Amino acid sequence: NLAGLPTLRGQAPIVIGHRGSSGTRPEHTLASYRAAIEGGADFIEPDLVVTRDGVLVARHEPVIAVVDASGKVTEATADVANHPEFGSRLTTKKLDGVDVRGYFVEDFTLAELRTLRAVERLPALRGRAYDGQFQIPTLAEIIALVRDVEARTGRKVGLYPETKHPTYMQAAGFNTSQLLIDTLKKEGFTDPARVFIQSFETANLRDLRANIMPKAGVNLPLVQLVSSPDEAPYDWTARGDARKYGALTTDAALRDIATYASGVGPYKRWVIDERGQTTDFVRRAHAAGLLVHPWTFRNEPPYLLPSYAGDPEAEMRQALWAGVDGFFTDFPATGAKVVGQF
Ligand code: G3P
Ligand code: CA
Repeated sequence: NLAGLPTLRGQAPIVIGHRGSSGTRPEHTLASYRAAIEGGADFIEPDLVVTRDGVLVARHEPVIAVVDASGKVTEATADVANHPEFGSRLTTKKLDGVDVRGYFVEDFTLAELRTLRAVERLPALRGRAYDGQFQIPTLAEIIALVRDVEARTGRKVGLYPETKHPTYMQAAGFNTSQLLIDTLKKEGFTDPARVFIQSFETANLRDLRANIMPKAGVNLPLVQLVSSPDEAPYDWTARGDARKYGALTTDAALRDIATYASGVGPYKRWVIDERGQTTDFVRRAHAAGLLVHPWTFRNEPPYLLPSYAGDPEAEMRQALWAGVDGFFTDFPATGAKVVGQF
């Protein structure tokens, strides 16, 4: 019985399939989203970037393959390095204030991206069993999948899109947030009970709230993501004003976030400290009227808070006891099981 939980309004917490079911299928593929839905996710999360011809596709970063000075691919979400015809697209760009050498999604048309296949970003952890099997999906295709599930089963899974690097994309000539609202409208997916829009970039969310959504006649809940200074290996200080981490977690900042957003998406460390103790973050965010959806709950040892090594379900339960209104997980089936037993 979930009634009386310490969530914002006593409602049941939602399980958000992080990049789909990225613990079991290559992230941001239709196979990953389908597995998330079948595992019991209430929402599925596409991170969104823009193709050269202005189409929103699901990838974690604009860069789809990172290449080092020796020509070796050090991290990839698509097999572009296997396509010599795209060799001329290898370039260096500044991303998060850091020079990144590789292949970037905004340099490929959707038709070109269709010739690529997803590869496992963490092969040391998850192997390469699924490499080469799946395409990079568009947002419209992800919505079609959700619609298909609804038509077949009646189950209404929601979408939790993140606008990835919108300022970077703006410099490349694309307004990610506008494209997102345009696509949701075109596909008729604008029910505020079934969409949360999230971003690390504060200005982007304010623009959605004040300009883009009102002009489109759409009103969807927004979620301000809040990162953490202890999430190595990023150089957090190199990031823009949206990345003020701790500065976004003060009571005053939470009250300000509540002027344009319905919720806050903190790195889980803000909710559970390094000793595994519940912090006062959820109580303070709830006092500001904000939902709390922390990320990312994972089954794998390198990603667990140290105090939860070997017991990922305990980490999820601790978050539920803390009163979170939902959480992002790479293993939504595990998340749904834990919420179901809570
Ligand atoms: O959107 C919540 C969480 O996914 C943020 O981090 O890097 O996994 O997109 P990231
Ligand atoms: Ca994300």
